Amino acid sequence: MIPVASLTPFEARIEHGELVERIIRWDRAYHGADAPEVTDDVYDAARRRLAEIETAFPELAAKSPLAAKVGAAPAEGFGKVAHRVPMLSLDNAFAPEDVAEFDAKVRRFLGLGPDAVLAFVAEPKIDGLSINLRYEGGEFVQAATRGDGAEGEDVTANLLTLADLPRRLAGEAPAVIEIRGEVYMTKADFLALNARQEEAGDKPFANPRNAAAGSLRQLDPRVTAGRPLSLFAYAMGEASEPPAASHWGFLERLAAWGFKVNPLSRRCASVDEVLEFHDEMASRRAVLPYDIDGIVYKVDDIELQRRLGMVSRSPRWAIAHKFPAEQAVTLLERIEIQVGRTGALTPVAHLTPVNVGGVVVARATLHNEDEITRKGVRVGDTVIVQRAGDVIPQVVGVAPGTPRGPEDYTFRDTCPVCGAHAVRPEGEVIRRCTGGLTCEAQAKERLRHLVSRNAFDIEGLGDKNIEFLWDKGYVRQPADIFRLEEVDRDRLQKLENFDGWGRRSTAKLFESIRARATIGLERFIYALGIRQIGEATAKRLGRHYGTLEQWREAMQSGSDEASAELTSIEDIGPAVAKDLLDFFAEDHNRAALDALVAAMAALGGGVEAAKRIDASASAIAGKAVVFTGTLTTMTRPEAKARAEALGAKVVGSVSKKTDYVVVGADAGSKAAEAERLGVAILSEQEWLALVGG
Ligand code: IVH
Repeated sequence: MIPVASLTPFEARIEHGELVERIIRWDRAYHGADAPEVTDDVYDAARRRLAEIETAFPELAAKSPLAAKVGAAPAEGFGKVAHRVPMLSLDNAFAPEDVAEFDAKVRRFLGLGPDAVLAFVAEPKIDGLSINLRYEGGEFVQAATRGDGAEGEDVTANLLTLADLPRRLAGEAPAVIEIRGEVYMTKADFLALNARQEEAGDKPFANPRNAAAGSLRQLDPRVTAGRPLSLFAYAMGEASEPPAASHWGFLERLAAWGFKVNPLSRRCASVDEVLEFHDEMASRRAVLPYDIDGIVYKVDDIELQRRLGMVSRSPRWAIAHKFPAEQAVTLLERIEIQVGRTGALTPVAHLTPVNVGGVVVARATLHNEDEITRKGVRVGDTVIVQRAGDVIPQVVGVAPGTPRGPEDYTFRDTCPVCGAHAVRPEGEVIRRCTGGLTCEAQAKERLRHLVSRNAFDIEGLGDKNIEFLWDKGYVRQPADIFRLEEVDRDRLQKLENFDGWGRRSTAKLFESIRARATIGLERFIYALGIRQIGEATAKRLGRHYGTLEQWREAMQSGSDEASAELTSIEDIGPAVAKDLLDFFAEDHNRAALDALVAAMAALGGGVEAAKRIDASASAIAGKAVVFTGTLTTMTRPEAKARAEALGAKVVGSVSKKTDYVVVGADAGSKAAEAERLGVAILSEQEWLALVGG
């Protein structure tokens, strides 16, 4: 056979094509017909040759149906992989005493005296995600995430995008071996990725770990391919033969096979040596190119590891010695109140920039009002800040013995963005802006909700377009959506002339807005995005009040009776009632509502009345109904909607409180359960008769 290095591109292409064809045929015979056409050796040799060719001629790999699934279309979801050897987690040690106790326990378990030699390998604990890499005949065949330790997700296609992944083990390898390691992102790659994310208008990741996880768990490997992921190998899963007698020897083999092994790892002869390593790493931590959150100590002798085994879900032969959270002391210059999408007011500390474990920190969260009081921090205080795992740093408290700021901090009771009242319901820690529809901080998010599928359902108004219309100043409040066409008519630069819009799609958008200017009351209530008012509650409100006018009148009276009436409705408690009344108590919300209704009316639309439920009118009003099996005259969602419209409550499972179980074809355990509990069972026909056809 011609060595791959001597192949011309033409020869390579021909041979590659033949190999692919052959392997596909063999695969089919092997898996499909269960009748292998060739011996494993022949098959493996072909696979190896294919891999060699694809390494030397990457342009062939890119088009290969067999090799790297890179470039493949997104999968439906990840396949599940049962781990043949469970993927364990590690026990934690926080202080040197815990480590000494670990050493003592190992010795006790093995019957080793305090003077017997017991060596460890100490390795930096990388803050990433663990992965299981399966090799058969030296070839990489599958990658799986840890999952719950027993079963993970198949991320083979994604791992193939990593430059650090050996596709083949160099040199001699066991017939089967699973290598475990950590997929991570370096600090520099993380910062660069976040810069790109922000530029593209995507949400930045909180820390390198999240970025690595988000990148690895992509259904489309092309996305993973664009993310800078790295890999360190450090452990073993299933193996057809033991690859080494010591962990240190195993690490050497890993390196020889072509894996990256953390070069800082060290073989230590005693607890004193591992602790020395721990302290050394703690001081170098800030300048390492990746995040580490501690040191892992592993008993070096593999036979001893085997004897030690595991307890619950961690090995007895290893422990993670965690680093303390990184802290620093700096000046609290001012407290800014940020307003989140739901109107939550969050205090953010602005600090004199300080280096906390290698990261310059200028802002830190103070969580909420109570936390400021609990920590007693004042503007002008010298405070301790800490980074614990996550990138968002926290203010721990006032640094003892430092000069204090002049006065206690008072949390404002108005929204810093829109000036509306900010209220804090009893028993809650979060204060919220009541500006709702008009507060800029919340407005965009609310607009997105307004046009979303279960609300106004306006086609062609996705997140991106809302963002665009907001930025261009077209849309500020709900009414503006229905005025869009009119406003556009008077604009110098028309929407259709902007990139990505065009005449056709603009016309289509206007059309769907016009079509949606008429809406049922229940959807309308839901669309307003009032806190705690989800679809189910909106439905109940709609059916209870019937028309927009009646609902508004009750809400705007703000009276005790209005509140009492609200709480008489199923599933509406005092907290929800209060959110509703608070919303209507704000002038700007009422004004925005008026404007919305007017704009809808200008397009010939309006809010349609909901069918009011008269509890006494239908035979099933107030009854709890379960549907099970396949219905023939209507779909399950349709049956549910119909039953609800008649005042029934449709529930998912059968209990003693169930009034009727409606049984379609192929009904399973629910029918049996109904029988057992003596609940009335109705056929579809009986049900139809009951509800009137
Ligand atoms: S050994 C049975 N070594 O830490 C031992 N784990 O808390 C399996 N980790 O899930 C783990 N660096 O994701 C080991 N050098 C290292 C590690 C390491 C990071 C992670 C790994 C594991 C978790 C356990």
